[in-house]
Amino acid sequence: MNVLILGSGGREHALAWKISQSPRLERLFIAPGNAGTAQAGTNVNIPVTDFLAIGNFVIDKEIQMVVVGPEVPLVEGIHDYFLSNPSLNHIPVIGPVRKAAMLEGSKDFAKEFLVRHNIPTAKYQTFTKENIGFAEQFLGILNPPYVLKADGLAAGKGVVICQSLGEARQELREMLLEDKFGRAGGKVVIEEFLDGIELSAFTLTDGKHYMILPSAKDYKRIGEGDTGPNTGGMGSVSPVPFADTTFMKKVEEKIIRPTHKGLIEEGIEYKGFIFFGLINVQGEPFVIEYNARMGDPEAESVIPRIKNDLLDLFTAVANQSLANEKLEVDERYAATVMLVASGYPGHYEKNKIISGFEKVEDSFVFHAGTGFNSSNNQTVTNGGRVIAVTSLDNSMKSAFEKSYVNAEKISFENKEYRKDLGKDLFKYIP
Ligand code: AMP
Ligand code: GLY
Repeated sequence: MNVLILGSGGREHALAWKISQSPRLERLFIAPGNAGTAQAGTNVNIPVTDFLAIGNFVIDKEIQMVVVGPEVPLVEGIHDYFLSNPSLNHIPVIGPVRKAAMLEGSKDFAKEFLVRHNIPTAKYQTFTKENIGFAEQFLGILNPPYVLKADGLAAGKGVVICQSLGEARQELREMLLEDKFGRAGGKVVIEEFLDGIELSAFTLTDGKHYMILPSAKDYKRIGEGDTGPNTGGMGSVSPVPFADTTFMKKVEEKIIRPTHKGLIEEGIEYKGFIFFGLINVQGEPFVIEYNARMGDPEAESVIPRIKNDLLDLFTAVANQSLANEKLEVDERYAATVMLVASGYPGHYEKNKIISGFEKVEDSFVFHAGTGFNSSNNQTVTNGGRVIAVTSLDNSMKSAFEKSYVNAEKISFENKEYRKDLGKDLFKYIP
C-alpha cells in the first residue's frame, strides 16, 4: 500500500515511524514532513492545505491512503475535497469530514453538541460583538477565574483564563472588538472554570464503532511546576496514573459512548481519531475540548505503546470493520520529553545544528521542528519544539529517567526542556 501522511511535527514522525514498520506498506510519503520523517519515508514539499496539489500527487503516485496529522486541513475540508472529486473519492482519508472536524474547529459547535447529548462540560454561553453587553453581564454573574475562548482555530492560543473581572472584560473587548484572534475570535465562548487535573483520552473510529486508545497527559506550560505561558506541549506520559479503571469507565459511559452515538444520530460519519480533552473534577470527568486528530506530543507517547499494525487499524477504519480489530497495548509507561528552542513559545532562533543522535540508547527520537540543511548535510532546528524523546519502561519514573538521560545527549544551541515532567503524578502511583 502507498500511503501519504500530512503534517510535519513530532506526531507525524511518530505516525511515519509506526507505519513504516507495516508489512502492508509499499511506499510512504510525508507532506511536508521534517528531517525525522525523511528517515521513515520520502518527504514531499506540498503544504497541508494545498488540496489541489495533494490530490494530484495522490493520483500521480498511486497513493492508497491519506493519513491527516494536524487539524487545519481537516477543518478546511480535505476529506470532503477527496469525497467530492471522482478521481479521489475511492481513496480513504484517515481524519474526519469538515462537519465533524468542527468539533475542534468551533468551540461553540462543540459546546452545543456536548449539551445536545448531555455530555458533562463546563456551563457556558456564546457571544458576538453584537451582544457584548450581555457578555459583560454574564461575566458579572460568574465567579473568578474567567475562561474566555475564541470560537475558531487559534493554534492553541485562543483560550484565555483571567483572574479578575477587569482583566476578563478587557480580554473580551480585545477578542470581540479588536480582532485579537482575527476571524477565530468573532464569537467568544465564556465558560465556568473547572478546577481539576487534566488528561486526554483518544478513540479511533470508523463511523460505526470505536476503539479506545491508551490515555495520555501532556504538559502544556513552558515552565517547571506548570508555570508560564502555554506551549504546544512540553512532554507527555501514557498511561495516566490517576485514570484508573473506575474513572475510565465513567469516561467511556458519560463521554466517549455518547459522543460517538451523538455523531451517528446526527448523521455525521466520523472516520479518524477523536481526542477528548478532559478534566477530572473530584473523580468526575468533564470535556474541556474535542480535537479532530491525535494530540501532539501525546501521539509520541501513545503510538509507541500500540502493538497493532497501524495500517491494519486504518484499513479497518476505511472499511468500517473496526469492530473486528482488537487493540494490543504495551503495558509499559511511555514518557516523552520535548526539547525546545530557547525563547519558545515566544521568539526563538532556527537553523541550529542538532547533533548527538547516534549516542541515544533505548529511547525513540521523534523529530518535531527539524529540517535538513543540504548545504552542510546537517539536521537543523526549524521550529520551537524541536525533538521529542520517548522511552518505555515498567515504571513512569524510570521511563522519564531514560528520556532525560537521552535528552542530554542530543545537542543544539540554546536547547531547553522541562526537568520536572511526571513529578506531579508520582502521588497517584501506589
Ligand atoms: P483548550 O484549548 O480548550 O484545551 O483550552 C486550553 C487550556 O485551558 C486547557 O488545557 C485547560 O488547561 C484550560 N481550560 C479550558 N477550559 C477550561 C475550563 N472550563 N476550566 C478550567 N480550565 C480550562
Ligand atoms: N497536546 C495538545 C494538542 O495536541 O492539542
